[in-house]
Amino acid sequence: VKSIAVLTSGGDSQGMNAAVRAVVRSALFHGLDVYGVQRGYQGLINDDLRQMDLRSVGDIIQRGGTILQTARCKEFMTAEGQQRGAEVLRSRGIDGLVVIGGDGSYQGANKLSKLGIKTMGLPGTIDNDIPFTDITIGFDTAVSIVVDAINKIRDTMSSHERSSIVEVMGRHCGDIALHAGLASGAETILVPEVPFELSEVAERMKTNFAKGKRHSIIVVAEGAGKGEEVARQITADCGIEPRVTVLGHIQRGGTPTAIDRILASRLGDFAVRQLMAGDSGKACGVVRGELTTTDIDTVVNSKKPFDMNMYELAIRLSQ
Ligand code: F6P
Repeated sequence: VKSIAVLTSGGDSQGMNAAVRAVVRSALFHGLDVYGVQRGYQGLINDDLRQMDLRSVGDIIQRGGTILQTARCKEFMTAEGQQRGAEVLRSRGIDGLVVIGGDGSYQGANKLSKLGIKTMGLPGTIDNDIPFTDITIGFDTAVSIVVDAINKIRDTMSSHERSSIVEVMGRHCGDIALHAGLASGAETILVPEVPFELSEVAERMKTNFAKGKRHSIIVVAEGAGKGEEVARQITADCGIEPRVTVLGHIQRGGTPTAIDRILASRLGDFAVRQLMAGDSGKACGVVRGELTTTDIDTVVNSKKPFDMNMYELAIRLSQ
């Protein structure tokens, strides 16, 4: 491998810039040419690439977003789009590609790999929904943002003896809700992976207030229900009127935590070294602290198991 490219794709996440920086600097350190693809797979199809040097990635390790920008590209889901992407890379003499993104981005990387492009995937998503890695780039920052927001909400809920519903991101994965809920002492955590009855949630809320609790916080992952709808149901069930906060894209912005920067730096450098060693079609991850690779094909065809132990712990501690 003499020349590689890097792109960010799908929803952005904090730490993507740190990962781009690591890929570029590691590649240059090892004497490779390195190109940045603008706007994910869309930029690849449009041949929107620029050669990167050491200074192209200066002053970005601390920034949220992605300097390469990103897109959810429908065209790349077609065989023609994928062919075109592979041709662009070949025409430029680029033989390796690092894709930083979530599940959809991995699907694209998998296709390119089958078309003969040496690819490496890095898990970049706040959702933490990628299997074969303990954690994804951006997750720690997103959880910290949610915990910080719940701290603030809790202050005012306690003063007024109110209940609150905080809707967080996670269409198919409840990890942000679970981790932020545990870390902030939420009374109830609603996730897509665990079935629940809102009438029971309402009952518990009433009992908790009767036991002398001064506030009640429900964290709901968007994939488990809309905050406003959960509130309406609870009011109908028990008369309590929870206030609703939808955190939305605030969870995807801002400076990455040290954990995300370090994770991104390790993974970015690792992906380059794996490509140089001749490896391809792999997703990089961290399992029990160790850098690992797994066939992208396996990763895109698997689902990350939900941590029931942590969920039950959160319930035990929230009485
Ligand atoms: O996959 C990351 C994510 O932030 C999800 O948690 C969320 O459902 C989705 O992206 C939002 O996507 P968009 O920014 O395109 O509205």
